[in-house]
Amino acid sequence: MLLQSPFPAPAGAPAPVLPTPPHADDLVVDLSVYAPQSDSYLLVEAIRGLGDRIAGARVLDLCCGTGIAAVTAARQRAAEVLALDLNPAAVRSAAANAARHAPAMHARRGCLTDAIEHGPFDVVVCNPPYVPAPRDDVDHASAESAWDAGNDGRSVLDPLCRTLPDLLGAGGVALIVHSEVAGIDTTVEACRDAGLTADVLSRTRIPLGPVMRERRDWLVERGLLPADADTEELAVIRASR
Ligand SMILES: C[S@@+](CC[C@H](N)C(=O)[O-])C[C@H]1O[C@@H](n2cnc3c(N)ncnc32)[C@H](O)[C@@H]1O
Repeated sequence: MLLQSPFPAPAGAPAPVLPTPPHADDLVVDLSVYAPQSDSYLLVEAIRGLGDRIAGARVLDLCCGTGIAAVTAARQRAAEVLALDLNPAAVRSAAANAARHAPAMHARRGCLTDAIEHGPFDVVVCNPPYVPAPRDDVDHASAESAWDAGNDGRSVLDPLCRTLPDLLGAGGVALIVHSEVAGIDTTVEACRDAGLTADVLSRTRIPLGPVMRERRDWLVERGLLPADADTEELAVIRASR
């Protein structure tokens, strides 16, 4: 149930590249909460790919938004799923979705620092904000806070990669999704620098959405997108301890 999406598909946009997960059409999405879309779906597909590894696991969904990733993990019989987000409206949506779909899931307002207090986790999933932004300041109650991530798009990604060894228990695995504009190889290297095994698990290419199209010239000037780009690559990075 999409109550309101701040991210309408552009007119004439091609059909979504990834199939919509079955529960995505039945999620509460409050005003100013990120409506699940291609990056969310790529992460959901990766979580499903973990199969039985999720059963009985403690899972963290950092930057949960509606909690679509957390619901997916809970439905794969995770023992406990903590869904954290700094946007109070996202926490309300995720809590509503937990009540509807996933009793093992708990939604709270929080960030990386709060996640560390609740760790370690067997599985960490994250679809963070990752779009480079001309402004560095973020109002966490705004819709923009779902995508704006500092000048290089890495204001959440870099601390997350550095902290993963503390968040993950022995043998734990992290799945992080983001666009090429924030540097897919940079994330792989940052996880390896932190002492983890890391690789790209999956990739897909999607049409540029409204925010990326609006920033395209600025991104091209900064060398973060090829000139005349009308698509971007999304990737899921898998990092393990
Ligand atoms: C790209 S959206 C992803 C939402 C959801 N995980 C999905 O896949 O549909 C990013 C989310 O991160 C939240 N967020 C932004 N900065 C954060 C931070 N430092 N800590 C926790 N959540 C944050 C935003 O409020 C937003 O809900």
